[in-house]
Amino acid sequence: MPEPISRASHLSVIEAGVKPPAVALHDVVLERRGKALVDGLTLSLSTSGTTVLMGPNGAGKSLTLRLMAGLIAPDEGRVRWNGVETTPSQSVALVFQKPVLLRRSVRANLKHALKTYGVSRIERPRRLEKLLEMGELENLADRPARVLSGGEQQRVALVRALAARPKLLLLDEPTASLDPQATAAIESLIRMAAQNGAKIVLVTHDRGQAQRLADEIVFLNHGQVAEVTPAQRFFDAPQSQEGRDYLDGHLLL
Ligand SMILES: Nc1ncnc2c1ncn2[C@@H]1O[C@H](COP(=O)(O)OP(=O)(O)O)[C@@H](O)[C@H]1O
Ligand SMILES: [Mg+2]
Repeated sequence: MPEPISRASHLSVIEAGVKPPAVALHDVVLERRGKALVDGLTLSLSTSGTTVLMGPNGAGKSLTLRLMAGLIAPDEGRVRWNGVETTPSQSVALVFQKPVLLRRSVRANLKHALKTYGVSRIERPRRLEKLLEMGELENLADRPARVLSGGEQQRVALVRALAARPKLLLLDEPTASLDPQATAAIESLIRMAAQNGAKIVLVTHDRGQAQRLADEIVFLNHGQVAEVTPAQRFFDAPQSQEGRDYLDGHLLL
């Protein structure tokens, strides 16, 4: 049976239609106490490239990432990963603004992740070294993870997510509380993950960061997609009134 035509169909601009989407939300509604926090959201993201989710506070960006991670289920509508309904485990990773690390050394945090992701005992040391190198964490490997600076902790959190070799990497404002240098280090890890073929979905309020990393922008407002636009074009000429207002610095209420 053909799919019913949804209210708004937003197709990713990258490789649209070539493969099943990495993740697709179809008329998704999420309600809490009678209020629709995500309100008929339809969005389909291709399997490669970097999609940046932007939008005012409360637009539903974090909830959308949680839906994409399979951490919460929609009250209405559907979420699909590569065209299937099964909630992914290892192929999807979510990194939060505030890293949550174990009260152990950096090395132990990464070892634990590799074990959790089912990497064989024999292969673990090699993969561990690789992760430490990627995160430029070699000199910090034996330090307790929780005493590191915010930027260092976020590097640990990000390479720990990469330990799963996720196909879909979801990042919720990962540099929101970091200085420019720490932000640059996180951005280079994100670029590396994208080059290695992971699909990236990044939430950020940092326009410069969005311009540096995004292939396309998804602009959310009131739990709905206002527009999906190639990044360059979005910053030159956003297609929605909400996008224009946001870039003009007007508060969206
Ligand atoms: N568990 C919850 N219960 C009730 N309201 C929630 C819950 N989680 C989020 N919200 C509300 O849903 C809206 C969207 O939240 P969120 O996705 O976190 O927004 P964003 O990340 O875009 O700032 C906000 O108004 C928020 O207060
Ligand atoms: Mg949020």
